[in-house]
Amino acid sequence: MTVNASAATTRYEAESSPAVCTGTIDSNWAGYSGSGFCNGDNAVGAAVQFTVNASVAGSTTVGVRYANGTTVGRPADVLVNGVARLSGSAFDPTGSWSTWATKTFTIPVNAGTNTIRLSPTTSNGLANVDYLELSLGASPSASVSPSTSASPPGRPPQCTGTSPITCHFGVNPGNYTVTAWIGDQSSAGNTSMSVEARRRILSAVTTAAGTITQHVFTINVRQPEGQPTGQGGTGTPGLDVTFAGSAPKLSGLTVQPASSPLVVYLAGDSTVCDQPTAPYTGWGQILPTHVSAGAVVANYADSGESSGSFLSNSALFPTMKPLIKANDLVFIQFGHNDKTTTASTFRSNLTSMINQVREKGGVPVLVTPPVRRLFSGSQLTDTALHVNSVGVNLPAEMRSLGSSLNVPVIDLTAKSKVLVESLGPTASAALYLQQSVDGVTDNTHFSEYGAGRMADLLVQGIRERNLSLVGYLR
Ligand code: GCU
Ligand code: CA
Repeated sequence: MTVNASAATTRYEAESSPAVCTGTIDSNWAGYSGSGFCNGDNAVGAAVQFTVNASVAGSTTVGVRYANGTTVGRPADVLVNGVARLSGSAFDPTGSWSTWATKTFTIPVNAGTNTIRLSPTTSNGLANVDYLELSLGASPSASVSPSTSASPPGRPPQCTGTSPITCHFGVNPGNYTVTAWIGDQSSAGNTSMSVEARRRILSAVTTAAGTITQHVFTINVRQPEGQPTGQGGTGTPGLDVTFAGSAPKLSGLTVQPASSPLVVYLAGDSTVCDQPTAPYTGWGQILPTHVSAGAVVANYADSGESSGSFLSNSALFPTMKPLIKANDLVFIQFGHNDKTTTASTFRSNLTSMINQVREKGGVPVLVTPPVRRLFSGSQLTDTALHVNSVGVNLPAEMRSLGSSLNVPVIDLTAKSKVLVESLGPTASAALYLQQSVDGVTDNTHFSEYGAGRMADLLVQGIRERNLSLVGYLR
């Protein structure tokens, strides 16, 4: 037997980025490859996730090298691009923590980048995981049933039109796994995807004739679909999906209920919300372009809300709170409409939200408000930086509250200040709304471009704070 396995496979070490280990990288048990192994936290869901490349779509064999020095199995679900493909796959005892074994299984993959996630199903967590190996050429194979194969099922009757293509599914509010096969057997395409009220899921992708790529997302459906109080329109009940771009091509679309994704709730104002009408765009409606299947953004932000009104309006915090489950993230951004709020009221409103999120097992995250475009010379003014009319520096209050309550803070005020000041008074206009381009001048609200730049800064903050969403960033 002279087959050189390494020639046919690629090894992805668990200790090396882009792999993500919910636990520690250890090296105390001999026999591992590379510089260590993932010792996952001993908890349900404390996963290790690999990001791999496959040359072609189809079924492929994956090997996971692991050690389990206990006397009981450490079962794990195997999720590919956020979709559970194997449930409770056994990682049986290997005899000792320094005895490593390789477990192989067959899963469907897309051509290009895929995530493969091992998510433990018991409170013992995962076995120690050394690496994952993937066959270089995934071979199209009959061992994958049609429902899990990457082959396109064809455009469903729920979709109409050609440019854009619009699809409507009469589902109840909730979270859904949406699989889209983008591209066409006979013609080239350029296709973007958005859902509900202008919520962007995928920026335009170009496909050659004969190329169809499968994309899987988790999508949140709310009613009303834009802003929770219905400002600007309540939309259509159910899930609406729009494929636009210069030549939209769709070869299949399926919608299935999603089983307990990681939900990122957004509590905020008009700079965050799902704005139903262009050109106004909240950063929360672009953030989903950064999130892969298995996690989902649920945007409860609403125009005009302050820390106090968000707490008391029954369509806002009281509607969102009961939905929060253990480990869900709740991003809290207020300031724009706390123009006359005192420091103590601002702190107590935020503290109330933080405590109530924690009561539900959720993870609160404070996001300081993005700056307004108000310059004095080359510097932003105090009003731009959210020092309010009673002299309270609202971002500073959020930072200090974050450190006293041990809540992670994403300092979007500081990040957007650097961005806006570095662009300067003229070039920064494109982030906001300008008469000549948008038909309106507004130095508080973002254009689609500006909202996208804010979403980028959020993603930077999510990585810096190492929030659990990191494992689901695209
Ligand atoms: C021990 C061992 C770890 C292992 C852990 C576990 O602490 O040293 O490597 O991960 O047990 O039970 O998960
Ligand atoms: Ca462990």
